[in-house]
This record gives sequence, structure tokens and C-alpha cells, in this order.
Amino acid sequence: MQRTSADHGTWWLWPTTASTAAGSVGGVNLAGTPAAPLLRVERLSVRFGGVTALDGVSFEVEAGQVCGLIGPNGAGKTTLFDCVSRLTRPQLGRIELEGHDLLALEPYQVAALGLARTFQHLGLFGSLSVRENVMLGGHHACRAGFVAAALRLPSVRREERALRRRADEVLERLGLAHLAARPAAGLPYGTLKRIELARALGAAPKLLLLDEPASGLSHGEVDELAEVIGAVRGDGGLTVLLVEHHMGMVMRMSHKVVVLDFGCKIAEGTPAAVSEDPAVIQAYLGVPA
Ligand SMILES: Nc1ncnc2c1ncn2[C@@H]1O[C@H](COP(=O)(O)OP(=O)(O)O)[C@@H](O)[C@H]1O
Ligand SMILES: [Mg+2]
Repeated sequence: MQRTSADHGTWWLWPTTASTAAGSVGGVNLAGTPAAPLLRVERLSVRFGGVTALDGVSFEVEAGQVCGLIGPNGAGKTTLFDCVSRLTRPQLGRIELEGHDLLALEPYQVAALGLARTFQHLGLFGSLSVRENVMLGGHHACRAGFVAAALRLPSVRREERALRRRADEVLERLGLAHLAARPAAGLPYGTLKRIELARALGAAPKLLLLDEPASGLSHGEVDELAEVIGAVRGDGGLTVLLVEHHMGMVMRMSHKVVVLDFGCKIAEGTPAAVSEDPAVIQAYLGVPA
């Protein structure tokens, strides 16, 4: 397949100097102790008819770190996300979250293990309020059944209050509290991207999968978003797998970067190492480095 320059997305946003996120590199934290992998992806392969979207991809994400997942359009990034969040079943491979075999679970059980994602194309309900959208993110944690909910038993009302409290905390944290009662429809795109992030955080996840959170945002909005994601991560133990075309954001935020091309992993390492890797440069520019 021949790529055109348009296929490379915003490769020119690649920074000239890549600085590594503070904290830890290569699975070793500042205290010098090896961190346990929160997510382990092993030999993942997905085929759609004649298209090989993923071809034996393996990597690990350490707890508390940000792992950038990059690659030209069609490289298989969204397919990998879809496998981890159980929207797509791979033909081969294994995915573990804290040692749990994700492929043996139903998608709703995966959410209960502490996994949440944002969607490249927003997953919000326009007619619901911003707060209700964020409350939906945490709904998997509710225990009440259909009958209890229909009768609005005290346990249901307690759960709803807890969901609402969590939603309001997240909205406050992301600077969206003033919009809580507004319907999501009609809000500016940059705000909707932020609400999408809030919806995922409403689930209080351990692992957050972000699929192109900066797409469609202005430079200023990208910086704000990176700051807010960094701040939320700093609040406590959040691990992030970040797919993003905006190289400046990926390189600034990631402890480690995994590079896919045509479904294969072609590089993995610190942002600085990956940005100088000839195979990566060739994949992005379409010419040998
Ligand atoms: N549901 C699908 N059916 C058929 N082909 C698909 C489907 N989803 C993705 N693909 C193909 O798989 C490859 C990887 O796609 P994708 O994971 O969306 O890449 P990326 O997110 O890196 O741009 C592409 O060639 C794409 O056309
Ligand atoms: Mg994609």
C-alpha cells in the first residue's frame, strides 16, 4: 500500500527535542524499584478479511505510567484499543490487566476491573446533561438490579448520590463544573473532548485508554488538555495508554512510546530514543531516514 503525505497526519508536529516525562523510565521508578506491569499485551493479532490490522503485537504498560501508542493512519492503534476494551476479539494473543485474562471476560466485566476509554469519535449523548454523561461513565459500579431501580429503593438512591458526587468532583477537576446542568449537544468541540475525558474518569479507572484526545483541538487547547491529564494522573495512580497524532503531546507526556506501522510494532522506548529511530522516521516520512 502506498501512503500519501496526507496519510501521515500531523507528523510535522514532531518536536525537535523530545523530553521524557518526569518520574520513571523503562519500568524503573525514581526509587529504583521495578514497577509491576498493569497491562500486558502479548502477540496480539487481528485480521479483518484480507486486512491484517495487528500482527503479533506485544508490549507492557507499567502501573502509574503513560505509554504513548503512535503510528501512521491505519497502523492499528484503534484496533488495539478496541481489543483491550473488548469491542474487538483478536484471532490470536493475550491481554492481561493486573494478571486478569481480559479475553476471558465480558466487556462489562472489563470496566469493573478498572478500565475506561475515550473514543476518537466522541461517545457522548447530546440530549443528556454534561453531569449525566459523566455519571454514565461510573454506572458499571452500580449493583442495583432492574427491579430495585424501578422501585427507587434507598440503596439505588444512595448509589445515584455517590455517582453524582463522583461526577461533580471530576467536572470540578476538569474545569467543567459550570456546565454540569447543560445538555452536551451544542457545546464547542474542545469542551466535548474534555467531557469525553470526564466521562471516562467518572468510572474512576486504573487504566485509561485515550484515543486521539487532542484531535481537532487548537494548540492552546492541546496544552490545556495535556496539563489536565497530567494533573489528574498526579492525583493518584492512574495509568494511561495514549493514542495521539500530536507528537509534541505524546513526547511530553509519555514515559514510554510504542510505535505501530501496518499492524506491527516497529519500535518501543523512551520518547527521545523513539523519535530518533530510523524505522520510525521512515514510517512517518515514507522515505529512509
Ligand atoms: N471494522 C473494520 N473492518 C475492516 N477493516 C478494519 C476495521 N477496523 C479497522 N480496519 C482496518 O484495520 C487497519 C487498522 O485500522 P485502525 O486500527 O483504525 O488504525 P489507526 O487507528 O492506527 O489509524 C486499517 O487498514 C483499517 O482500514
Ligand atoms: Mg484510530
